[in-house]
Amino acid sequence: MTLTMGAHTAKGTRTSAAARAVDVWKVYGSGEAQVAALRGVSVELARGGFTAIMGPSGSGKSTLMHCLAGLDSVTGGDVYVGDTLITGLSDHGLTRLRRDQVGFVFQQFNLLATLTAEENILLPLSIAGRKPDRQWFDAVIDTVGLRDRLGHRPSQLSGGQQQRVACARALISRPEVVFADEPTGNLDSRSGAEVLGFLRNSVRGFGQTIAMVTHDPTAASYADRVIFLADGQIVSELTAPTAEDVLDTMKSLDTLTAVA
Ligand SMILES: Nc1ncnc2c1ncn2[C@@H]1O[C@H](COP(=O)(O)OP(=O)(O)OP(=O)(O)O)[C@@H](O)[C@H]1O
Ligand SMILES: [Mg+2]
Repeated sequence: MTLTMGAHTAKGTRTSAAARAVDVWKVYGSGEAQVAALRGVSVELARGGFTAIMGPSGSGKSTLMHCLAGLDSVTGGDVYVGDTLITGLSDHGLTRLRRDQVGFVFQQFNLLATLTAEENILLPLSIAGRKPDRQWFDAVIDTVGLRDRLGHRPSQLSGGQQQRVACARALISRPEVVFADEPTGNLDSRSGAEVLGFLRNSVRGFGQTIAMVTHDPTAASYADRVIFLADGQIVSELTAPTAEDVLDTMKSLDTLTAVA
């Protein structure tokens, strides 16, 4: 994939991270019911990088993604998306940020049942009142291999195809970062591999920045980098890992937690 789009060339010349958390704390509830979901997390998502976020259930993975994406407020610390400090943005500013700068892929696909695949993909642009760039639309559609399914509704598509529609929807506005929370959690391994391959291609081919939460070492091995959370803190990190590397790290962290 050698396609280079104008906006990406411009983005590629900037050196700052696509998203950045600086000593982020997130505390839910108050008094006895208080839960510190994030306890001083600092992380940078390099532009054009594919980062996997792993860790036990309840370790703060989804919370970290939501805070990085401006879907949830932080209790302390700073979050930047691109060059924008988003902690402190008004509601209106946050709405615009979520619409223009971030894309989401969820485990449950979250497609609108009454819309066709094409309408679902174009929905973020329709909401923003923006016209699709046909060349970009074509590039995205061909990468996800949905050309002959554009007129189908979600119920007429397989799980893997539905998730590829969701990926195309996340990419269509060329966001600064795509966040994916267990995107392969509901897919069989073959469809999962297709979706992961597509996510990786959008990083390699389009320079898209992606952060993905997963429990699956094989899924994590598609990423350039894996960060491990435990108890609301980053406890380990791997670069260009194999699935075995990821599994070994998970085991060693289990042992550490068992000792503690
Ligand atoms: N809205 C909320 N109100 C109160 N506590 C919450 C809320 N959301 C998350 N938590 C708590 O914060 C902690 C981290 O939750 P989070 O959903 O980020 O975990 P996770 O790593 O994504 O887990 P999983 O792998 O199960 O999805 C958990 O203890 C959870 O119970
Ligand atoms: Mg989660």
